[in-house]
Amino acid sequence: MRLPGLIDVHVHLREPGGEHKETFATGTAAALAGGVTTVLAMPNTSPPITDAETFALADARARAGARCDYGIFLGATDTNAPLPAALQQRAAGLKIYVNDTFGPLRVESLAVVMRHLRHWRGAGPVAVHAEGLFVPALAALAALTGTHVHFCHVSRAAEIETIRLAKERGFPITCEVTPHHLWLTEDDLPRLGAFGDMRPRLATRADRDALWAHLDVVDCIATDHAPHTIEEKQSPTPPPGVPGLETTLPLLLTAVHEGRLSMEKLIDLTHRRPRAIFNLPAQPDTYVEVDPDAEWVLPEQGWFTKVGWSPFAGMRVRGRVVRTVVRGQTAFEEGRVLALPGTGRNVRDAALH
Ligand code: DOR
Ligand code: ZN
Ligand code: ZN
Repeated sequence: MRLPGLIDVHVHLREPGGEHKETFATGTAAALAGGVTTVLAMPNTSPPITDAETFALADARARAGARCDYGIFLGATDTNAPLPAALQQRAAGLKIYVNDTFGPLRVESLAVVMRHLRHWRGAGPVAVHAEGLFVPALAALAALTGTHVHFCHVSRAAEIETIRLAKERGFPITCEVTPHHLWLTEDDLPRLGAFGDMRPRLATRADRDALWAHLDVVDCIATDHAPHTIEEKQSPTPPPGVPGLETTLPLLLTAVHEGRLSMEKLIDLTHRRPRAIFNLPAQPDTYVEVDPDAEWVLPEQGWFTKVGWSPFAGMRVRGRVVRTVVRGQTAFEEGRVLALPGTGRNVRDAALH
């Protein structure tokens, strides 16, 4: 069975500055193994991607390393609004961190958030890491400024209910949910420890159930693939984040098998809505061939992500990626990544549109 190549609008590929965790070459190998043919990379790197110079640095690394198509987010700071118009057009979108996460990117003042929203004219939306009361605050600011705000990794019942209400009133907002918030809860923390720690944190079963119950207002499934090494996770100060690129499609296909998700909705969440929201070009002759009946247990090891672990290890799933084809070239087949570093294109390259 063929599916359109998945578009993952939220990944951390760690270049520049975190190459021991992941690189464009290793992260996009993981993407292709997971049926993902476009990744949008987050800007909380070292240095963070916040201006033309750092954007050019990340883009050069991506151009050399990426095996699938990619976009790169710009990160908002207290001082970088307004970003140059040409740079806005080159970016996947603008990312604003209003809550504490991994790395120093953070915007705390209302004045600065307003300034970014009023000046943003990019080809993609303003994506926000907003939790709790910041969700209604950012939804209101989206309506007041008319700027499209995309909510990253919505994880709580009250947040998704707020988004439903705001959407019903026509606010210019969209949202994504991660597989870890759909499949794991705080009940898994005793077992997973730091390997189950991320931002937003795992929530209650009631929160998880609310995400499933409100799936009709969810636009995208995004992994928030946030690789950290096993050694870092076992350290006294483990950084938050979990990998997810290789496990998402098997989990979603399992949900289809169980009758919790239709195949049409799966394609909406992983391809049609991400493409529309982020204004992405078509990828001709690009698809994922899956075996929807393959039953297997997600393993502890053997992943393409450089960090080599998964919080989903041990879960029995139904559905497997057999082959991933990008622009007519077989990029992944029978457990092997064939696409070479440097074959991926920036989604904002004029030649693709
Ligand atoms: O758990 C997380 N890890 N949440 C974030 O927002 C950032 C990410 C990372 O970069 O590791
Ligand atoms: Zn985040
Ligand atoms: Zn993230």
